Amino acid sequence: MKEEKTKSKKTSKLKKHDKRVKKWVGWLCLAPLLSIAAFFITEIAKISCLMMLLLSQTPKECPISPQLVKSIDACLSKPFHYIAQGSTSQVFSSQDESIVIKIPLKKKSTSKYSGYFPFIGPLSSYRKRLKEKLKFAKACVNTYALVRDESAILYYHFSGKSRIKGMVKLGNKEFDLSQEDYFIQKKAIVAEDYLKNLINSNQLDQACASISDLLNFAISFCQQGILMVDLQFTSNFGFIDGLPVRIDIEHICIQESWKKNYKPHLLEQLKDFERWLKDNAPMSVFLHFEREMKKRELKL
Ligand SMILES: Nc1ncnc2c1ncn2[C@@H]1O[C@H](COP(=O)(O)OP(=O)(O)OP(=O)(O)O)[C@@H](O)[C@H]1O
Ligand SMILES: [Mg+2]
Repeated sequence: MKEEKTKSKKTSKLKKHDKRVKKWVGWLCLAPLLSIAAFFITEIAKISCLMMLLLSQTPKECPISPQLVKSIDACLSKPFHYIAQGSTSQVFSSQDESIVIKIPLKKKSTSKYSGYFPFIGPLSSYRKRLKEKLKFAKACVNTYALVRDESAILYYHFSGKSRIKGMVKLGNKEFDLSQEDYFIQKKAIVAEDYLKNLINSNQLDQACASISDLLNFAISFCQQGILMVDLQFTSNFGFIDGLPVRIDIEHICIQESWKKNYKPHLLEQLKDFERWLKDNAPMSVFLHFEREMKKRELKL
């Protein structure tokens, strides 16, 4: 009797143990499914957020006067040629060299999970594309609203109706102006070429004056709380009719605290310009830059 009792106790213990093991195995099998579902839900939530943010930018269709549309249309009737590519955009110039069209680069985005789950890859690359589009839209809207003249931006398009329509040839490709993302800007002489031309033609006073203009221009942005994350005087600035313009619109944002506390960042960002002057300008021009920095209490 006693033996039977212990036997039944043992079997009920085993059954309980079996049940627990089964429960754990069940949970373990469910875990990957649950994490896929969680990943899927967060991706969908992030995509919806991005879409809403993008929609909030959409009504801000670029205002443009009929006269400007007319003069831009005249340039668009002839093919544009490729001039440069940055980390985020490709740049094409009109035949008469008066304007450029910038189109955001379509980067291939892959997800680390795409090899394992067929639907997650496309979903996360779609989210990354939306994120890029939102960044581009924000850059256009902010630049147009805050520094239209200083950036020489004329028109942008990233969704919805387009005031500028039709096809234009960019290099050897047809580009649909009412469908694609792009912005149009006046063409500038890139600061590096501008300064080199002045130096090589021995117009050193003009070179010094242009360097002072660049410094004043950058500082006036800072004092308004406009932060140029990636300053780069030589490639992100240019000159139109002898005056500086900021040609790169991707790295501009607003930061209230910046108004008072811009010097450390500005100094850090000016180091590569100092090096460039050391390598490319005569000593008198380099010393002029040093003096101008001191005058503005910027010590490198
Ligand atoms: N308005 C313009 N006039 C003349 N050249 C231009 C103009 N805009 C851009 N470029 C040329 O194209 C290059 C890249 O432009 P931009 O800096 O705007 O692109 P980006 O992709 O934001 O660059 P990055 O992120 O690498 O700084 C410039 O360095 C310049 O050589
Ligand atoms: Mg740039």
